[in-house]
Amino acid sequence: MTAATFAPRLLAWYDHAGRHDLPWQQPRSAYRVWLAEVMLQQTQVATVIPYFERFIARFPDFSALAAAPADDVLALWAGLGYYARARNLHAAAQRIVSEHDGAMPRTLEEVQALPGIGRSTAAAILAQAEGQRHAILDGNVKRVLARHGAIAGWPGQPKVAQQLWALSESLLPAARMADYTQAIMDLGATLCTARAPACTRCPVAADCGAYRQQAVADYPSPRPAKARPLRQARLLLIENDSGAVLIERRPPSGIWGGLWCPPLCQDEESPEQALRQRYGLQLRAQAALPPLRHAFTHFELELQPLRVQVAARADGVREQADQLWLKLSAETWPGLPAPVLKILNQLRKN
Ligand code: ADE
Repeated sequence: MTAATFAPRLLAWYDHAGRHDLPWQQPRSAYRVWLAEVMLQQTQVATVIPYFERFIARFPDFSALAAAPADDVLALWAGLGYYARARNLHAAAQRIVSEHDGAMPRTLEEVQALPGIGRSTAAAILAQAEGQRHAILDGNVKRVLARHGAIAGWPGQPKVAQQLWALSESLLPAARMADYTQAIMDLGATLCTARAPACTRCPVAADCGAYRQQAVADYPSPRPAKARPLRQARLLLIENDSGAVLIERRPPSGIWGGLWCPPLCQDEESPEQALRQRYGLQLRAQAALPPLRHAFTHFELELQPLRVQVAARADGVREQADQLWLKLSAETWPGLPAPVLKILNQLRKN
C-alpha cells in the first residue's frame, strides 16, 4: 500500500459508507458549504442540520444574510453556542457583498481573509464548492492523519501541525476533491473516532502506522499537562513528652479544608515565627525529614516535614476544639490528608 492509493481506497469506502445526504451537499453551493462549515466548527452534524435548514430558509443567499439585522442572525443562531461565529458570519456576508460582488471569492487567501475562517475551513469551502485541490486539517482529520502517519506529538504544537499539513497535502487525489474532503471528515467522524476506532472496517488500515504499532489509542498525543506552579510548605511536627504530635483542624477553605494536620508553615513565615506567634513556644532545634511532593489541581506542593524541639514543654499547648495531641500509637486517627498520613506513619515507625 502506498500514499498514492490512500485517496482511491478512501473514496471507494466513501461511495458505499460515507454520508451523501447532508443538506449542504445538495446543492454544494459556496454559500451553503460555507454556512455549514462555520456551524460545524464547534458543533456536531446532528445538531447543526436543523439550524442549517432554518438558516437557509430565512437567509437563502449572501445578500439576504448581509442585509439582515444582526439580532435576527443571532436569534437564528441561538442554541448553537460560540456566538462569535454568528457575528463573524454576518460580517463575512457583508464583506462578500461589498467587496466580492456577492459571491464567495475563489482563492484560498481571499477566503481565509474573511472573518471567522481559518486555513482548514477556507480549504474545505473551496474543495467542496469548487472542487479546488486544497488540504484540510480540522480536528477529525488531525486524528486520522496523526494515526495513519504515526505522527507523535500534540497537534497544537506548530512543529507537529506542520507535519500533519504536509501529510494532508501529500495524500490529495487528482480529482473528486469535494467527495474526498467529505470522505476524510466522515472517516474521522464515523470509524477513526477518538474513543472507539473501528480499524477492522477502515479502508486505509493496511498502511496505518498507529495500527501497525497496535497503538491507535496513543495518537494523536494529548495536550501536555500545564506545568503546575510549585508551592512549598513546612510541616511542623511538634512532639510532647509522651510522643504525641500536635494536629489542628484546617480552616474550611484552602488546602485540605476541614482535615486534621500538623501546623503548616507557608511561604515567608519561618518555623520559629510560627511557633512563637501561634503557640508561644520557642524553637530550640529542628530536623528535616525527607520532603514529599503532592499534586493539587492548580499547583504542586512540596511538603517539608520538620521535627521540631521546643524550649518550653510543648505540653503547655492545651487541647482546644480544633487542636489536639495525636498519639501515634492510637488505634484510630482523625481524617488526615494522604501525604500527612504517610509522614506520620513514617514517624510512628521510627
Ligand atoms: N465537520 C466539519 N465539516 C464537516 C462536514 N462537511 N461534514 C461533516 N462534518 C464536518
